[in-house]
Amino acid sequence: MHAHTPLQNSTMLKTNQIGSFNQNGYLIIENFIDSRQRHRLMQRAEQLIEEFQPPTNRSVFTTNEQERSSDDYFLSSGNKIRFFFEEEAIDQHGNFTVQKQQSINKIGHAQHLLDPEYKQVVDELDFHSLGRQLGIQSPRSIQSMHVFKQPNIGGEVTLHQDSTFLYTEPMSCIGFWLALEEATRENGCLQVIPKGHKIPLKKRFKLAADGGTQFDILNDSPWPEQPLEMLEAAAGTLIILHGQLPHYSAANRSSRSRQAFTLHLVDKLCDYPQDNWLQTDLV
Ligand code: FE2
Repeated sequence: MHAHTPLQNSTMLKTNQIGSFNQNGYLIIENFIDSRQRHRLMQRAEQLIEEFQPPTNRSVFTTNEQERSSDDYFLSSGNKIRFFFEEEAIDQHGNFTVQKQQSINKIGHAQHLLDPEYKQVVDELDFHSLGRQLGIQSPRSIQSMHVFKQPNIGGEVTLHQDSTFLYTEPMSCIGFWLALEEATRENGCLQVIPKGHKIPLKKRFKLAADGGTQFDILNDSPWPEQPLEMLEAAAGTLIILHGQLPHYSAANRSSRSRQAFTLHLVDKLCDYPQDNWLQTDLV
């Protein structure tokens, strides 16, 4: 018995849940996180944003793909706690269009290791046990994000596979997506291609030899023509995503935010390339 694990509430998956994950590429577990844990994460985020001093030159801190990709603030965030703005939170002159608390697209990418509050909740939830049950032999928590999907301006996340960004050889990434607030079709819930984890990895996002980043196209066939499945989720729901499962979320034009916390695991036994965009010396 390990002395340091009394607070963990490890979830034992049933055989049919593991089967469903392997068949569909995702698994939904309702009431995975309680209201105390959800509010702890949301209150901690609010506190961190309160303490965050926005930079004077705000344009470089948006989450826009073009701008962020060569941006050191983004590329060196793997072992830090950093703040990324919603694109529509800042106008062309660099001025805020909303209050600071409503301007943040996400906080990432190492609060699960660096911040005591996040760390405690993440440890309590024992994602490594879930990862092991789903086939990861030696789990490593490589990345966390607190995603806000702010009211009215929450940005779209285009269709992608997480292994594009957290690539290992062989591929091993599993994503854990926790609804801190209710996620509906109005506020930008997750949408997936069921069974789409059988689709080969389409691209890899990596460091370019001459600085900045690039996408390597691995498979240029188009996404299958099929409607995405909306995964509406009550607050407290966990959605587990296979690293190759294509997923998407629409912009939030509703008046309600859609906060989520995500943690991604990879297998330490797989090779983690030195040219992956996310590099961290944290375990
Ligand atoms: Fe993703």
